[in-house]
Amino acid sequence: MCGCAEYRPPRMAHQITLIPGDGIGPEVANATKRVLEATGVQIDWEEVNAGAAVAEARGTTLPPEVIESVKRNKVALKGPIGTPIGKGFKSVNVSLRQALDLYANVRPIKSLPGLEPRFEGTDIVIVRENTEDLYAGLELMIMPGIAQSIKLITETACTRICEYAFLYAERMGRKRVTVVHKANIMKLSDGLLLEVFRKVAQKHPKIEPAEIIVDACAMQMVRSANRLDVIVTENLYGDILSDLGAGLVGGLGIVPGANIGTEAAVFEAVHGSAPDIAGKGVANPTALIQSAVMMLHHVGETLAATKIEKAILEHFASSAVRTADLGGTATTDQFTDALCAAVAKA
Ligand code: NAI
Repeated sequence: MCGCAEYRPPRMAHQITLIPGDGIGPEVANATKRVLEATGVQIDWEEVNAGAAVAEARGTTLPPEVIESVKRNKVALKGPIGTPIGKGFKSVNVSLRQALDLYANVRPIKSLPGLEPRFEGTDIVIVRENTEDLYAGLELMIMPGIAQSIKLITETACTRICEYAFLYAERMGRKRVTVVHKANIMKLSDGLLLEVFRKVAQKHPKIEPAEIIVDACAMQMVRSANRLDVIVTENLYGDILSDLGAGLVGGLGIVPGANIGTEAAVFEAVHGSAPDIAGKGVANPTALIQSAVMMLHHVGETLAATKIEKAILEHFASSAVRTADLGGTATTDQFTDALCAAVAKA
């Protein structure tokens, strides 16, 4: 033994794109960066901006460098970006998902200790198709007073989202995948999803397949959410059911999400830009922090991910330092300070 310290090769920092977003986006993004730093994980953030804030200067809400950065780094953390209602530019979020072909939107709906969820032990994962359906943007005014939106459903997209859901269930040790549809009314479009689901299910005999109509699913979620496991569904149903799910476990402030494609992944909370509380320093950053945990697992930083997971569980189980959406009085910074301290101890 020479007594020298063991040689450890320098750890490479991860190059990750950061899109802070608008509204509460920059506030929750900043909090998330601080919590990640507290784990010691090495990340070189490449910050790029999109949305209304850049539109005037750049002439577009989604400048090409945003797409290029995510393509180059293959991983991004994204804050919410607002979309005008009923007029104005197309959703930057939808455009980004389509441009990068981020076809699977994975949203774990899980209760946290101390938050009094509607049902103990709620643990649902919604796998939402992310590139088509009514979000394809195929809308037109046929004539004044008559508007048409086209619901686009393809066999290709149905196959890959169903495959993704079953493979996810297998990888995560889940038992059942339930397809949520409305094929009793939309016999061709939702019927196609159902037909594909049944075929894909046959290739995954270890996972139990189940089927439910979307309205019945909404009812089941509010009556007995803990009976649901993995859900696979179309874009619009997935969007609505994930906000419903968030409401069951403590609200939009805590539910994370990941947009996964074959070439890149973008991690973002389920919530939007929350203009009603933007700039007040009271937003709950937990949803984006939990999205960052999914990101850490994705890039293989299991230790850092586990530290934050443990800190979140311990914090919510034992501390009253909470933001207003969860009935507390803490500011975003106060909550983040407390969570960073918990991460340091985890
Ligand atoms: P929202 O999710 O922004 O807000 C709904 C309610 O939840 C508001 O009362 C808000 O204050 C509260 N809330 C949301 N996140 C919170 C947090 N982290 N902490 C504390 N309270 C929180 O939904 P809304 O108002 O319908 O949409 C606002 C904008 O966000 C719209 O322009 C919409 O298009 C956009 N949006 C963007 C998304 C994205 O970037 N992925 C997703 C959903 C909406």
